[in-house]
Amino acid sequence: MPDPDDLIAAATKVRLRAHAPYSQFQVGAAIRGESGALHIGCNVENVAYPEGTCAEAGAIAAMIAGGDTRISAIAVIADSPRPVSPCGGCRQKIAEFADGDTPVTLATTDGHVQHTTVAALLPGAFDQDYMTKG
Ligand code: THU
Repeated sequence: MPDPDDLIAAATKVRLRAHAPYSQFQVGAAIRGESGALHIGCNVENVAYPEGTCAEAGAIAAMIAGGDTRISAIAVIADSPRPVSPCGGCRQKIAEFADGDTPVTLATTDGHVQHTTVAALLPGAFDQDYMTKG
């Protein structure tokens, strides 16, 4: 079982590299891939606002580029009043590479931590089964 503290530490560090001049809301994410390797990402905003990307998406891209194909655990951190809630799009992106019971750790920079799972974040996820009839 991946240590959530390691993931929070990695997410905390990469969060400081976020490019968030528009929202001023920096987010860090860290994934433990099935190989055991760590993959990190931060949000990268753009003056054309919809072109910005979330921290989770960055960590997933790093994971795929790094040669892992499955998420064993993921942590996300931000300077928020409550543990940061991944957006709907990121929940779907995480679900693509994780199982329902894959642990998700949500954290604030002042030490509040919430442990949840991919299925709890995205109940009734759309998956490939819906595309096969009969
Ligand atoms: N953001 C993330 O990177 N991940 C989340 O889980 C929530 C939101 C980013 C997107 C945008 O750059 C900023 O936070 C404000 O929405």
